Amino acid sequence: MQKQLNYYFVVTAPGFEKVCAQELINLGIQPIKVIRGGVEFEGGLRELYLANLWLRTASRILVRLADVAARDFPVLFQRLSRLPWGRFIKPGSACDIRVASLSSRLTHTGRIAEVCQSAIDKCMGDQDGSGSVTQKVYLRMSDNRCQVSIDSSGDHLHRRGYRQIRVAAPLRETLAAGCLLACEYDGSRPFLDMMAGSGTFAIEAALIALHQAPGKRRNFAFMDWPKYRSGLWQQLLVEAQREEKSSTQAPILAIDNNPKAIAAVQANVAEVGLEGAIKLSCGNMQQLQPQVADGLMICNPPYGERLGKNATLEALYNDLGKVCRRYFSTGWKGAIVCPESGLVKRTGLSSSPLLSFSNGGIRVALLEMLEKS
Ligand SMILES: C[S@@+](CC[C@H](N)C(=O)[O-])C[C@H]1O[C@@H](n2cnc3c(N)ncnc32)[C@H](O)[C@@H]1O
Repeated sequence: MQKQLNYYFVVTAPGFEKVCAQELINLGIQPIKVIRGGVEFEGGLRELYLANLWLRTASRILVRLADVAARDFPVLFQRLSRLPWGRFIKPGSACDIRVASLSSRLTHTGRIAEVCQSAIDKCMGDQDGSGSVTQKVYLRMSDNRCQVSIDSSGDHLHRRGYRQIRVAAPLRETLAAGCLLACEYDGSRPFLDMMAGSGTFAIEAALIALHQAPGKRRNFAFMDWPKYRSGLWQQLLVEAQREEKSSTQAPILAIDNNPKAIAAVQANVAEVGLEGAIKLSCGNMQQLQPQVADGLMICNPPYGERLGKNATLEALYNDLGKVCRRYFSTGWKGAIVCPESGLVKRTGLSSSPLLSFSNGGIRVALLEMLEKS
């Protein structure tokens, strides 16, 4: 039997597309196109399940169902009615239809959603929405063509299922993992986050170091599709389990001067079962001395906008520069996530941007910190 291939689109936070494309390649999946906000690939259900299970930087994965021309509502209805909705929607399920329209005759997004719902009802019988499942459907009208996509992920993929407690403006898990991958972190050298907050960098580093699949603890929208292949999913989980390492090759350290942050990291680390993999300590980064040579330090210091401006921020960046220099002298590399503003100059170090992205609505960069020559 010939394998049914689909086009898929991995949605990423803008700025992380190339990191995600490399993740796909590492899974043995060749990306077709990298565009702003995501990466396209082709494959069967195995590739779709694998991508949901393993991609650390993906926000969600969509199935490209169709791309139909439509300049009026009757034609849109007729063309949408012919699509194979039954592959993705169980009878009785509700649909959450999200519409965007640009440069098209059909601009009324609410009406476009109604027409799509009527087309689904015609195809499936009346969807009374009484089932417990809600399937997300995305319609994008552009130049009088309607691109139809089905969500395969469900909850946003940054929800790995381990974050119990959040403190102090946490980074999304997908962004933290992307920063680690952009710094070529693979677990083979020591890692330090000296401003750990809720521990996102340290936990994502441990998942990478132990080769744990980020999606192994959660459910996905595709599990509610009529032709869900639970045997295939179980097989991928078993394969993932087989690839896991029982311990980290090099230490992972998380430090913060706020006891509440350390308590949060402790709870999150316990939730994900990584107690043995991450060493926690409560203290000021200024007291840090490198215990081992050669490692990677990444941190996300406060930058005022989110944590409240205060006069000590410049002094904090100055101290950060001093700690970095101490580590650099033993062979460590360092990067910070912060706005490309005057603050970073306070470290007294040079910086080179590795990634540029938005963190909670603030433009920030992952800056590799370098000693001034
Ligand atoms: C923006 S938060 C980090 C968020 C973290 N990346 C996460 O995802 O949860 C900054 C953290 O730096 C910590 N911090 C500030 N000054 C510090 C210092 N001198 N030494 C150690 N930690 C410090 C704060 O307590 C706060 O938890």
